[in-house]
Amino acid sequence: MLLPRALLALLAATAVRALPQVTKSGRYLFTPDGNRFYIKGVSYQQQGTVQANGQPGAFPEPTDYIDPLADAAGCARDIPYISSLKANAIRVYSVNSSLDHSSCMSAFSNAGIYVILDLALPVTGSINRASPSWTTSLLDVYTATIDAFLQYDNLLAVNIGNEVVNSDATTESAPFIKAAARDIKAYLRSKGSSVLVAYASTDGSDTTDDWRDPLANYLACGSDSTSIDLYGLNNYRWCGAAGSFEGSWASTVAAFSNYPFPAYFSEYGCVDDLPRLWNEVPVLYGSQMVGEWSGGLAFSYFPAVGGYGLVNISSDNTSVITGSDWSLLQSELSNVTFINTPTSANAPSTSPVACPGQNSSFLASQTLPPTPDAAKCACFRDSAFSCAYTGPASNTDVQGALFNYVCNALGAEGANCSIIAANGTTGTYGILSDCDAVTQLSWAFSYYYELSNRDPQGCDFAGNATINNAVSTSAANVAAQSCLASVPSGGVFTPTASSAGTSPTGSGASSSGGSSSPSSGGKSAAVAWRVETGVLGGILGAALAAAVGAAVTLL
Ligand SMILES: *[C@@H]1O[C@H](CO)[C@@H](O)[C@H](O)[C@H]1NC(C)=O
Ligand SMILES: *[C@@H]1O[C@H](CO)[C@@H](O)[C@H](O)[C@H]1NC(C)=O
Ligand SMILES: *[C@@H]1O[C@H](CO)[C@@H](O)[C@H](O)[C@H]1NC(C)=O
Ligand SMILES: *[C@@H]1O[C@H](CO)[C@@H](O)[C@H](O)[C@H]1NC(C)=O
Ligand SMILES: *[C@@H]1O[C@H](CO)[C@@H](O)[C@H](O)[C@H]1NC(C)=O
Ligand SMILES: *[C@@H]1O[C@H](CO)[C@@H](O)[C@H](O)[C@H]1NC(C)=O
Ligand SMILES: *[C@@H]1O[C@H](CO)[C@@H](O)[C@H](O)[C@H]1NC(C)=O
Ligand SMILES: *[C@@H]1O[C@H](CO)[C@@H](O)[C@H](O)[C@H]1NC(C)=O
Repeated sequence: MLLPRALLALLAATAVRALPQVTKSGRYLFTPDGNRFYIKGVSYQQQGTVQANGQPGAFPEPTDYIDPLADAAGCARDIPYISSLKANAIRVYSVNSSLDHSSCMSAFSNAGIYVILDLALPVTGSINRASPSWTTSLLDVYTATIDAFLQYDNLLAVNIGNEVVNSDATTESAPFIKAAARDIKAYLRSKGSSVLVAYASTDGSDTTDDWRDPLANYLACGSDSTSIDLYGLNNYRWCGAAGSFEGSWASTVAAFSNYPFPAYFSEYGCVDDLPRLWNEVPVLYGSQMVGEWSGGLAFSYFPAVGGYGLVNISSDNTSVITGSDWSLLQSELSNVTFINTPTSANAPSTSPVACPGQNSSFLASQTLPPTPDAAKCACFRDSAFSCAYTGPASNTDVQGALFNYVCNALGAEGANCSIIAANGTTGTYGILSDCDAVTQLSWAFSYYYELSNRDPQGCDFAGNATINNAVSTSAANVAAQSCLASVPSGGVFTPTASSAGTSPTGSGASSSGGSSSPSSGGKSAAVAWRVETGVLGGILGAALAAAVGAAVTLL
């Protein structure tokens, strides 16, 4: 029998010390006791396999990942080191929502360390800057990760994207990022969570890029329901001995002097000279920065492409090998004293920022895409398609080839793929542009099959499709109207957890520019029939108009 004293000791040993929720007020972060909270720590993710992303000068991007928060032994190995920095936060870029994170999360919590968690996954699990969309597939990935982590007291913030926009041309992605922020915020709040919704931006060049500040303002403007809570900037402008506040950061801080929300460096640590001196740390937490800035995360605990690793891990994974890069960071970070100004009681209120207009260096429309509507997509799949996609559920190469083929074939018939296409510049979002690839391909196949007057060859697609003549043409049209009639007014609503039941396949969602996205078609393709009936196209044309009407403007 356990003695009371032993029982108490056992309870104490197993009890998790809860970390308090950090909140934002104006442009600062605060703990519940009213003290300022500065983010201080390191990024914590092993390097995945990387591939060049096809853009000149762009950083290679990972194609896979190792979930660092599912590795209990790894966390136990690393936490003493991270604690020795007197860190209070780590950033984790990709996790597998199916795995058990309880050991790592409670160990970090017990060490007083919060987690800033990115929701995107490599390749098909992120907004594809080359062909952006915000779909049921992506929403499912994001909500599954949130569901797996909301139980932990030390989830500080979730990032809805990392460096999605990286040029003038890719600012077309911004409406999709903002729609993701809107829907993820609604989802978190519906679960009673005040976890912060954040975005991590890459830094442009002062001389050649005009988009960084408009993007930051775009994500912060408009109503609270569509704006981010926390802005992260991946910034490598301070390079060792040559760095200085005036030369490296003053212009950035000035650009954010009227920003309404907290901003921090979601990555920092230039590697032009190794070992890094980390002489920027006292400035980052010093009086020149803290009026506008809330700390930062040094990149990267683990080895990373480009020489950013702070430590190595022994080949048997049991020990951590540090060098002077680590010890210099350790001596700087552990020496930081936070400036507790202002406290929450005297934090000034901030004014809203204006939403930036469109110009040649900022292409984003203020009309956001609707909330991905799994019920609508399932309704179409169940009742409106006479020719269903039956190919592989998750092979984006096959799906990409079929999108190109069928949209080109529709184009040759004077039709198009607007129904499944989204355009963040014009702010037009086809009525099925938020659906998964299986639904979108089934729509395109059915349209083509109808245009062929239900010629069996019109529903072949090299064995990737199955005719469903139980759905007559008129029944398909009636069903399509009925599916659209149940879309919530305005197209924006609070998502529910992975309700889709759709396969989590990508539909053009690739951080590295995959090809599985619908194009608007138009190239000629050999088809043996002419357009004889425009019935389904007519209905779906009307649906497109409905979709445009349903889209929501920021202001
Ligand atoms: C996630 O974990 C599950 C369960 O172990 C596994 O089946 C799946 O392959 C993992 N996914 C990835 C992308 O690693
Ligand atoms: C070490 O950990 C990595 C994941 O971080 C894993 O891929 C590798 O197989 C592990 N090696 C050993 C020897 O356990
Ligand atoms: C980690 O390993 C790399 C590659 O061997 C080496 O260049 C680097 O100096 C090592 N870093 C530390 C801290 O040992
Ligand atoms: C630690 O911080 C103090 C100021 O708070 C400073 O004077 C001292 O030089 C710092 N030490 C190191 C090693 O950076
Ligand atoms: C576009 O507008 C932004 C302000 O939103 C401005 O900073 C930028 O210079 C403009 N770019 C061009 C090419 O006009
Ligand atoms: C499906 O489409 C792909 C791409 O066009 C093709 O390679 C494949 O042979 C088709 N058939 C099946 C059964 O996957
Ligand atoms: C969106 O529309 C603009 C303006 O018509 C066009 O230049 C751009 O290529 C379109 N984007 C996509 C992804 O189709
Ligand atoms: C695409 O087709 C629809 C419906 O037929 C039509 O209203 C629309 O103008 C077409 N769009 C383009 C870009 O051709």
